[in-house]
Amino acid sequence: MPLLSAARAVRENAHAPYSRFKVGAALRAGDGRVYVGCNVENVASPEGTCAEAGAIAAMVAAGQREIVEVTVIADGPLPVAPCGGCRQKLAEFARPDVPVTMATLAGATRVMSVGELLPGAFSAAQMGAR
Ligand code: THU
Repeated sequence: MPLLSAARAVRENAHAPYSRFKVGAALRAGDGRVYVGCNVENVASPEGTCAEAGAIAAMVAAGQREIVEVTVIADGPLPVAPCGGCRQKLAEFARPDVPVTMATLAGATRVMSVGELLPGAFSAAQMGAR
């Protein structure tokens, strides 16, 4: 299934009663399969999780460690941009050239790479050999 339609479909399952902002994310992993996630809010708001985090967790649970493509969709006026924390989460499993398509339900899209979304990312390289 193409990432855009997978993200659009899983967005319907989002639990977003507080923000009323449903988000869907779909990523293709190194195995070629598509893993999806949606935002899951909580009445104790810091406990909520983003759509991207759910998709990454599904991928890792399936035994995969490499993201090759990502799409995120929401019903906003502008293509939805991953939050700072999710940019770092994506960078854990995606090389800097991996494309992230940000989309609106209305059909607008914007594509940026993981490296563009998180320039100067903290990475294992900065920790040196341990
Ligand atoms: N949200 C995501 O799930 N992904 C994004 O890329 C941006 C924001 C969620 C978090 C929260 O449930 C709601 O959108 C409003 O911030």
